[in-house]
Amino acid sequence: MQTNRETVRNEVKLKQASIAVLGLGHVGLPTALGLAELGWNVTGADADPRKIALLRQGQSPFYEPGLQQLLTRHAANPRFRLADSVADAIRSSAVLFVCVGTPQRENGEADLTQVEELARTIAANLNGYKLIVEKSTVPAITGQWVKLTIQRYSRKAGNGSAAQPEFDVASNPEFLQEGKAVDDFFHPDRIVCGVESELARSILSEIYAPLGCPVLFTDVSTAELIKHAANAFLATKISFINMVADLCDSVGADVRRVAEGIGLDPRIGRAFLNAGVGFGGYCFPKDLRAFIRLAEENGADASLLRATEQINESRLDRFVHKVRQALWMIDGKVVGVLGLAFKPGTDDIRESPALRIADDLARRGARLRVYDPKAMENTKSVLPEGDTVTYCADAYGAAEGAHALLVLTEWEEFRNLDLPRIRSLMELPVIVDGRNLLDPDAVRRAGLEYLCMGRQREASAQGLHEILAAAS
Ligand SMILES: NC(=O)c1ccc[n+]([C@@H]2O[C@H](COP(=O)([O-])OP(=O)(O)OC[C@H]3O[C@@H](n4cnc5c(N)ncnc54)[C@H](O)[C@@H]3O)[C@@H](O)[C@H]2O)c1
Repeated sequence: MQTNRETVRNEVKLKQASIAVLGLGHVGLPTALGLAELGWNVTGADADPRKIALLRQGQSPFYEPGLQQLLTRHAANPRFRLADSVADAIRSSAVLFVCVGTPQRENGEADLTQVEELARTIAANLNGYKLIVEKSTVPAITGQWVKLTIQRYSRKAGNGSAAQPEFDVASNPEFLQEGKAVDDFFHPDRIVCGVESELARSILSEIYAPLGCPVLFTDVSTAELIKHAANAFLATKISFINMVADLCDSVGADVRRVAEGIGLDPRIGRAFLNAGVGFGGYCFPKDLRAFIRLAEENGADASLLRATEQINESRLDRFVHKVRQALWMIDGKVVGVLGLAFKPGTDDIRESPALRIADDLARRGARLRVYDPKAMENTKSVLPEGDTVTYCADAYGAAEGAHALLVLTEWEEFRNLDLPRIRSLMELPVIVDGRNLLDPDAVRRAGLEYLCMGRQREASAQGLHEILAAAS
């Protein structure tokens, strides 16, 4: 396939161009299916043959609302194809979306091995003009390295011949949130595209035109930095409100009302001001660390972000302290755990605060009865079922015989629990709500003691003994 810039421009205009999505994980799969839904010719590829095999059977490899339905819808769509190899997808496409993982190294910096490896595969299969679009979250200037790597290795593959096919590298950072990935694809707040050629700009404008949302064009490094800055800012908002919650606990104020009071100021905004057990998942912790590394390597003062990280790290101790306030001794107690995923709407447990807490309590001698609507299968490999951990069929199973019930993920179904039933099943009627999900009045009316985040004095006004006396 020998394509030049003009041919590709025309193919894109006529929607005849093929777009390859390389890496079909939490970002790549919604992107590939979303682009197919918009009417593009999409070829998906992944280095993991098990993932491709599952997809070929019509099964999504992970849970994400609406994703399985989208996959089923496009399984027989000739415009959506799963390639036999990554090389095949590259060779048959003019636009390549790079959606591979960028985990963190021990020292906090982003591990770009997957990106580099893919750049080399692209170089070896450069059979015409390609627009290479970084969707993976990468530190600023990665685009330049990708470009240099492709130039060097394609020259090598072409035995030094001067006439190598042209290509452009663009950055199009992904802002979708797990649990809402499909909806976020079709209704983004904004699309950011870092480009260095007019052709790249026109191709990306054309691809995203059907979404009708603001598209911000920048240079490549700026787009890369926007993604890290956005995640660092959101993480900072979360740590800020968690620090305020600690203070509210001490002085008897209510952090939810504080969040409401400051959030009504449009300069601040209410989003991401929910106090709780802290942020986790595949993005915030690693992206924050990578941004800190980038800042420090370049001489910028990263102390604000270090504090954000430190406050988040301290959530584990803060929460375990609350559990000890509730139970006094943890050793030998039965603790029900509601929620294992790092957030609702996903089965992703990467860096989940719920898992860290469960693991810590198990080490302190608690026996755990755990339940999550979607994440139990994934959890079993890291928190094996046995004497210490029992996986339950529902929230009521987790409450059975428990001395305390912990809410650790904001699944909607936990908001609507039958609280009198929960109370009747528990050994001691104590709920520790790490997400401020439940209605304190409803919990107390059901005869349960309620501890939560940043509302401690209010929450503990009615003590355990008082509740037990009232309930007996
Ligand atoms: N998960 C999120 O919510 C989210 C949101 C925004 C941005 N991001 C960023 O997007 C990127 C991908 O994240 P993810 O959550 O989708 O990761 P993931 O681990 O779910 O998926 C990555 C996929 O890439 C595949 N892969 C690895 N090397 C490959 C190669 N050479 N060729 C083809 N496929 C290859 C892996 O097999 C895997 O399926 C990361 O940089 C992440 O930081 C993630």
